[in-house]
Amino acid sequence: MSFKETSKIIIGCMSWGDWGKKFSLKEQSNLIQFCVDNDLTTFDHADIYGDYTTEAGFGSALAVSGIPREKLHLISKCGIQYVGQTRNNTIKHYNYSKDYIVWSAEQTLKNLKTDYLDTFLLHRPSPLMHPDEIAEAVTALKNSGKIKAFGVSNFTTSQMELLSNRITLESNQIEFSLTQHTAMHDGTLDYMLQKNINVMSWSPLGFVFKEDNEQTQRIKLVLKQLTHKYNSSEDSILLKWILKHPANVSPVIGTTNKQRILNAKDALKTPLELEDWFSLLVECQGHKVP
Ligand SMILES: NC(=O)c1ccc[n+]([C@@H]2O[C@H](COP(=O)([O-])OP(=O)(O)OC[C@H]3O[C@@H](n4cnc5c(N)ncnc54)[C@H](OP(=O)(O)O)[C@@H]3O)[C@@H](O)[C@H]2O)c1
Repeated sequence: MSFKETSKIIIGCMSWGDWGKKFSLKEQSNLIQFCVDNDLTTFDHADIYGDYTTEAGFGSALAVSGIPREKLHLISKCGIQYVGQTRNNTIKHYNYSKDYIVWSAEQTLKNLKTDYLDTFLLHRPSPLMHPDEIAEAVTALKNSGKIKAFGVSNFTTSQMELLSNRITLESNQIEFSLTQHTAMHDGTLDYMLQKNINVMSWSPLGFVFKEDNEQTQRIKLVLKQLTHKYNSSEDSILLKWILKHPANVSPVIGTTNKQRILNAKDALKTPLELEDWFSLLVECQGHKVP
């Protein structure tokens, strides 16, 4: 199964465990079931979530849910060496040695209680990463069937280019939203569109609900009008904004609220009209386009 066959809306699991909601096994298996019942079958993880504990909670919940593994597309990431309670790291750093990448992927498989990952990502670029070493690790993981597709996260255009020369790069998970749209201007999305690399966007709602300032108040005024016009919620309109980009972005949503998960699915229905898209950009920027 390749990433292209997954659900357009991706369920982010960063806050399911110790870094957020601290859901019980039952709550997690209910939420997985709810997502799957609504055709939201792709789940985004990283080894570090919950100080390396969240994957295991999800894996146990998935096991008790009884949902067949092949119904899901599981994504996880490696490379960040985080300072917490579970590892002896003395400083946060990145490790992309061949052995570490392979070991990390195997740990993730154990935690998620599965024998393959649909998509495996390098979480953040490291100044010390070598494309040949990464390519060797990824090739070994692919050849053994432990990962189906390989991608990166938070990589720049030149970093994607560096790896693409050695190994097929299928996705890049980047921060992209109305309020953080650098990728639209610095060539990242142009490059991914040109090379047919899947775009996943984390924090797809940006800081509209996280900050209350002049900028977010301006945005909210337009959002309010658009919710009436499209008979939609504010979060749904914000997702429609990123979905309209021609690079074919898949939002990785962070909410665990069932209504908001459905709002995200609803975002796929009616696309924003051109002038509505620009009206949100203008309010975000605080000035019209040149
Ligand atoms: N690759 C990376 O480096 C990276 C970095 C960060 C995150 N991620 C991934 O991206 C996922 C999503 O990130 P995110 O959580 O920042 O994304 P997000 O979907 O932009 O933000 C979710 C937050 O917004 C709140 N929210 C949603 N709708 C709202 C509304 N209508 N009104 C008020 N608040 C609302 C949610 O609260 P409720 O939960 O209460 O609804 C939640 O706290 C993570 O789970 C993770 O999988 C990846």
